[in-house]
Amino acid sequence: MTDLRNEQIQKEREEQRKRAEELTASLTLDEKIGMIHGAQLFQTKGVERLGIPPLKMSDGPMGVRQEFFPDSWKAVGLTDDYVTYLPCYSALAATWNRKLAREMGGVLGAEARGRGKDVILAPGINIKRSPLCGRNFEYFSEDPYLTGELAAPFVQGIQDWDVAACVKHFAVNNQETQRLWVEVKIDEKALREIYLPAFYNALKKGNAYTVMGAYNKLYKEHCCQSQFLLNQVLRKEWEYDGVVISDWGGVHDTELAAGSQLDIEMSVTYDFDQYFMAEPLKQAVLEGRVKEEAIDEKVVRILVLMMRLHMMDGRRKTGCYNTEEHRRTALHVARESVVLLKNQKNSLPLSKDHVKSVLVIGDNGNRIHSDGGGSGEIKALYEITPLMGIKKLLGGNVKVDYAQGYVTDASEKKEGHVSWQEASLENGGGLRQDSDRESGAGEAVRRNEELLAEALKKAVLYDQVIFVGGLNHSQDCEGNDRADMKLPYGQDELLSRLLDVRPDMVVVIMGGSPVEMGQWIKKADSLVWNWYSGMEGGTALAEVLYGEVNPSGKLPESFYKTHLDCSAHCVGEFGKEEEVWYKEGNLVGYRYLDACHVEPEFCFGHGLSYTSFSYHGGKIVEEGGETFFSCLVTNIGDREGGETVQVYLRPAGWRDEKIPGVFQELKGFEKVFLKPGETQMIYIKLEGDLKGAKVAAGASSRDIRILIDAGARHGE
Ligand code: BGC
Repeated sequence: MTDLRNEQIQKEREEQRKRAEELTASLTLDEKIGMIHGAQLFQTKGVERLGIPPLKMSDGPMGVRQEFFPDSWKAVGLTDDYVTYLPCYSALAATWNRKLAREMGGVLGAEARGRGKDVILAPGINIKRSPLCGRNFEYFSEDPYLTGELAAPFVQGIQDWDVAACVKHFAVNNQETQRLWVEVKIDEKALREIYLPAFYNALKKGNAYTVMGAYNKLYKEHCCQSQFLLNQVLRKEWEYDGVVISDWGGVHDTELAAGSQLDIEMSVTYDFDQYFMAEPLKQAVLEGRVKEEAIDEKVVRILVLMMRLHMMDGRRKTGCYNTEEHRRTALHVARESVVLLKNQKNSLPLSKDHVKSVLVIGDNGNRIHSDGGGSGEIKALYEITPLMGIKKLLGGNVKVDYAQGYVTDASEKKEGHVSWQEASLENGGGLRQDSDRESGAGEAVRRNEELLAEALKKAVLYDQVIFVGGLNHSQDCEGNDRADMKLPYGQDELLSRLLDVRPDMVVVIMGGSPVEMGQWIKKADSLVWNWYSGMEGGTALAEVLYGEVNPSGKLPESFYKTHLDCSAHCVGEFGKEEEVWYKEGNLVGYRYLDACHVEPEFCFGHGLSYTSFSYHGGKIVEEGGETFFSCLVTNIGDREGGETVQVYLRPAGWRDEKIPGVFQELKGFEKVFLKPGETQMIYIKLEGDLKGAKVAAGASSRDIRILIDAGARHGE
């Protein structure tokens, strides 16, 4: 950005602040209090006499959530709040595509505005510390750099539409178990290296207008009223001037909240006047326990936000929802998010020629996921399942049949049930699943045996067999952590026995987090990973399976063999109820696996293509005082395809196994699309401490093709 542009922004900010201060001075205490807490479940109060509107918020990550009554968690049941259902953030992260992140953010922003919202409660960017966290599907990655690089353009995409992004949950919100009360113990170095940088990027580079505090505690303080996080880090160090919103029910004390840099308190209960920053705060001001200036500052920031969103000047964008273009973006992200994990004997793509019959086995082949997961649930305009995607692609001349294979506990939503969100302040707000929960009652076991027998019988009768199983939102769900990484519902046995009779069966696993694969992975020739990938997910999957789309997704997280290989479990603590100690420090995800030589099932950054790429000509280039890594990538196969070149930095001493510490860290990436025979030059800027460091560039964290000294400069 030019200095002139910076100056303009600075001037505009000062003017907005001045106007906001003037407006605040004309407000009564009651009016100000009304603006800083929820007066409805998703809305604050405005000040009608001065034309200040209320602030309207909505979840959530994968689309704009349906409307609820103002004072009850019951859905209104409208016909006009169906929306574009976007892929989850793990899926977006698997694209490694910044441009797509911006486009998907743009869809969410346009739809939020189209639905009349001011703040969309997204993106969720917590680091995936453990594969067991129930909300991992809402988050991007285990890596702070990848998360931040995608979150920043995503936020900009949202805000292009005069809607505020609300980056959540600040910070170290990495487990659901007792999420309201659990205290995170972590050394500050690890906190700053792993858990804060993506927030910094989203807030400062992405310029997110709002941020949501986390439920949990850090250093003994609840994050939503934390002096350390909100006052010290956010405001003082980062000079963040946006609005801080609490998670729903994340505030616990009037004076602490008022004295922190929290601006708006939201909650899940209906006694809006009794929120900590409502009537109790007014009393505290009247009794002199809290200074009125503390409230003024919050109101000023809220008014500045309203100016940024053009809420009061008649110049606001209108937005739109359910457009053809939005569905196209959802499809585009879904296509690029599919990760081809294994493809022995080139068994994929499947051929469409001469095929007469296809059998799809597995509950996920035929399951709708959009309406589950917690606050990320979506009332989707539609959702193409894998089965429908395959049928749609093959057409009416091929017989496509379905066998459920196993029975699940994923229930359909029933009207009239007490909303989980209404009850979410009970029991600390989160649970740990029993490991044998899904094996369930005798009836389910009997039914599973029948379904297994049916699947085995049918599997030999079709030209092609495609298994689509994995997790659903019973496991990948807010307020819930998994007990382990095992596939639920007896799928290990089912897969293993099916592969015995159909070794050529294509295996597709869906989920927001990895699963154990040890019991059957060696028997499978091909394995495709599919996330919860939005309304066009089934279309995209079918296109990949039949080669109409060449897969280009790469894992944004390590796929461990078991959760016990993950540092949060084998070094640190996870899922405890009172405090969790992050003893693994900065050795999170692949940082731990690489430093300690632990083999994952599939490593961070892994993802195959139907073509191959060669890397050559790697060098370090200095230009204008900046350092770049550059190399050439050539598509040496016979199909057009996408490749993400990943650059890891190995610090000085990386080879010395006696020095415990990070072995390599992702510091850059670039995705390119190449025709057969085409070559492209990659340029990646290198930052950080390059002295004595090595640059490792390749197709995954363990498929390094070029290794050179960061100091081996050319072109000075
Ligand atoms: C979740 C938030 C969500 C909020 C409003 C909370 O339970 O943690 O992510 O935005 O509810 O639904």
